Parts: sequence; C-alpha cells; structure tokens
Amino acid sequence: MRDRKTDDAFKENVARYGRLIVNHLSILVKLTGIHGSINEAMINAASRLLSDLEPFIGEEGELSLKMVEGSFFIEDVRVKASLSDVDNFEFLAGEFKKRRIGVLALRAPLQNDDLIYLAYSIKGGVEASEIQSLLESKLTKGIAIGGPIFFDKKDSLDMSDTREVATRLYTIGLAAVKEIDISARAGKPINARKVKRVIHAIVDNILKDEAYLLGFTTLKSFENYLYNHMLNTAILSIGIGKRINLPRNQLSRLGMAAVLHDIGKAEIPMSILNKPSELDSNDLELMMRHPVDGVRMLMRTKDLSDITVISMLASLEHHINYDRSGYPELPNKRIPNIFSRIVSIADCYDALTSGKVYKRTAYSPENTLRFIHDKSGKLFDPVLARVFIKMLAGNNSTE
Ligand SMILES: [Fe+2]
Ligand SMILES: [Fe+2]
Repeated sequence: MRDRKTDDAFKENVARYGRLIVNHLSILVKLTGIHGSINEAMINAASRLLSDLEPFIGEEGELSLKMVEGSFFIEDVRVKASLSDVDNFEFLAGEFKKRRIGVLALRAPLQNDDLIYLAYSIKGGVEASEIQSLLESKLTKGIAIGGPIFFDKKDSLDMSDTREVATRLYTIGLAAVKEIDISARAGKPINARKVKRVIHAIVDNILKDEAYLLGFTTLKSFENYLYNHMLNTAILSIGIGKRINLPRNQLSRLGMAAVLHDIGKAEIPMSILNKPSELDSNDLELMMRHPVDGVRMLMRTKDLSDITVISMLASLEHHINYDRSGYPELPNKRIPNIFSRIVSIADCYDALTSGKVYKRTAYSPENTLRFIHDKSGKLFDPVLARVFIKMLAGNNSTE
C-alpha cells in the first residue's frame, strides 16, 4: 500500500512517464508488424521503454499497466494522452482490445529482449491467455498478462476535465465512424446511434472549450484518412455553427450531417481511397459518384428522421459550390443549403491540409486558409468563409 507522500510521487511519475510507456510500447508493437526480424529500431524502442519503466520498477519493483474501456492506467492512476499521442494510444488500445488484454504486469529485472518478446507475443497471440503461454515458453518470468477488466464507467473518465474528455471523445469518435464505414461497406443499413452520442458530446465540449477540440483536427492519418476526415469535418463544421450562434440542437444536426457527408465513399474500394499516387480518370469518375451514392445509402437508414434528410442534403451538395458549379449536375441549380455550405468549407479545409485532393500533396493550413479566402464568393459562401478563417486564424495553439 502506498502512503500519501509516495502516492503523490507515484502520480507524478505516471504523469511524467506514463504516456512515454504507452507510446513506446505501442511503437514497439507496431515495429514487429513492419520488420521480420529484430533490428536496431526495435532495440532502440525497447531500451527507451525500459528506461521509462525504470522509475516504477527499479531493481525489484513491479508495475501494472491496465486498459479499461480504451483508457490506460498505471495501477489506479489514469495515463493522460496529449495531442501527439492519440495515434499510439489508439493503436495500443486496439491491439489490447483485439486480444482481450486488460492487464500487463511488468516485474524487475527486465531486459530489452523481454520487451521485444512481449511486443512479438502481443502481435502474434490471439488472446491474453495465449500470449501468456507464449511468454512462459520463452521463460520471460517478469511479464504477466491478464484478461479484460471492467470498471464503473464513471471511474475511468473525469467528466469535469474538458480537455481530458476532448481527448477521449476524439478516440471514441474515430472508433464510431469506423464502425459506420465498415457496416456501410458490408451493405448494411446505417446505424448512427453511437456516432450521434459522440456528436452530442462533441457539441457540449466545443461549447465549453472550442480551441482544444479544434486542435485535434490537425491530426492526419494516411492509413485511416477517411475516419479522421469524417470526424475532423464534423468538428470544424460544429465550430463554424457555434460562431454563427446556431442553437445546441442545430449544432448536433450539423455535426451529424458533417460526419456522414462522405458516407457515399463506402462504395469506393479502400485501395483507391488510400492510393498514394494521383488518381486516374476512372478513379475520379468513381469518386465523383459519392455524393449521390451517399444519398442512396442514407435512404436505407432504419428510422428516417430530419437528421437523415439534412445528412442526405449535405452528402448531395457538399461538392456543389456557392456559384453553383461543381458536382453532381442537378436539374435545378440552386445555392446549397446552409448546412451543406458549412460542411463544404470544413470538408475542403481538411481534405487540402491532408493532401487528399488532385495532386495529393498537403497544403499548409495557412495556404489552405488563403485558398478559401481567394475562392470566397465563388466556391464558398463569403460570410461563412470569413467566420471559418477567423476561427482557425485565431486558434493556432492547441495547448
Ligand atoms: Fe466529398
Ligand atoms: Fe469530404
């Protein structure tokens, strides 16, 4: 049992080294998937992890890393991720979840090899128990792995800490949009219940502390571009909506429309969506069908609501410009609906800064804002474009 004094020191250690431990373990597990054999990068990652563990285990101590509901804990102290950690935290949480790992106990003395073997065992094992026997077969006595643990949800998240909630929301949001995309790809009707809950929470969070969650939209993932893009477009759209004083319920509707704006892309193979080179004319033709495909998919939604209708409009119109150019060609050319106009700005900003348009090289945020400024009144609603530029130009810091 720790007393209060050692408790404070322990918490300090978790704050200082906890995120490094999760990051370095995550990197180590990732590296096992990239390299066939142990190489220098792995040895480096393992020795960094070993030195992160040092303050906890020293010469004869023990540390237990737990994962509960996607959050990491060292003993009972939550490991907080900062903005740059989200990718690694999410990856490791995903690996733990897939293999039903809840606890990882690490005991001194440990060596680089033990940690490398641990990473391989996590990657190679199907379930916690199997990983444990893999480890035992290698006589790695200092490491034990246990199955999933469940806590009362309230314990795992301090709801009063807006920034902590924002970090969690981004991670949960990514998982929720991924689920929608996967089920849409399987041809199932869209079930947006989970995403709707996340969007409500994002709206609340942005109303409290706009800058922090907006900072997450700088996160780009090449592999998972579509998921980050869906979520980023929603966050940026809600940010604009807040600045034009849309009431809370409208912000949620706007967020849902934004998150689903590219749902039609679920008809496009991932190999084309993630193609690193420029798209050829066949790819482009397929791409340009997504606004209409999105409407078709949304029509299959189980309970048709006003959110579905707004989402259909955003899907249909987000590539139709303010001057009515763009696609798809509609018989009656009219200026898109206000939600679609908001989504189109947020969409363009995120796509350009991710390098996902035409030339596939990313624009800097500054150049993208300049582009939006130059095209305002032509491609974009001039009033909304001004609001957007002001929002991001004043929000460069995320810490
Ligand atoms: Fe689109
Ligand atoms: Fe988009």
